[in-house]
Amino acid sequence: MESTTSATRPDKKLVSRRGFSRFLLGFSFISTVAGAIIPILGYLLPPPSANAGNGGRVLVGTTKDIPIGQGKVVPVAGKPVMVINSNDGVHAFSAICTHLGCICMYDPVRKMIICPCHDGQFNPVTGVVVSGPPPKPLASIAVSVDGDNIFIGEA
Ligand code: FES
Repeated sequence: MESTTSATRPDKKLVSRRGFSRFLLGFSFISTVAGAIIPILGYLLPPPSANAGNGGRVLVGTTKDIPIGQGKVVPVAGKPVMVINSNDGVHAFSAICTHLGCICMYDPVRKMIICPCHDGQFNPVTGVVVSGPPPKPLASIAVSVDGDNIFIGEA
């Protein structure tokens, strides 16, 4: 009776230790090179803007994404922008706290823009300081609503 081990089968190719080691070496080399190049390319090449082509405006969401009573921090040109949809309309401010530069967030329960670092609080309609250490209001940013779409920037 004939043995059916893989060592005796002529149709199966065995991978030698040397071949497997070469494969591992090649794989690690490619992984190392890719791991070094990809972050560099990510730094040098700006991310494609899906919102380009609206004049100076950038589409940041819809009124369904940010319904009345809600706020959201969105990246615009690499900077965090606070967009708030209130009963008074849609407002936008720089989300960078004027105290020490932490990123603010909207608290829908308190209906206030909050800085988590030192509990600075800003008015969500005007951006003025309500309490805490921030020395200045949040910088106001032009915002417009076209249909359901919310745009940041001038048209
Ligand atoms: S950084 Fe915002 S309150 Fe201090």
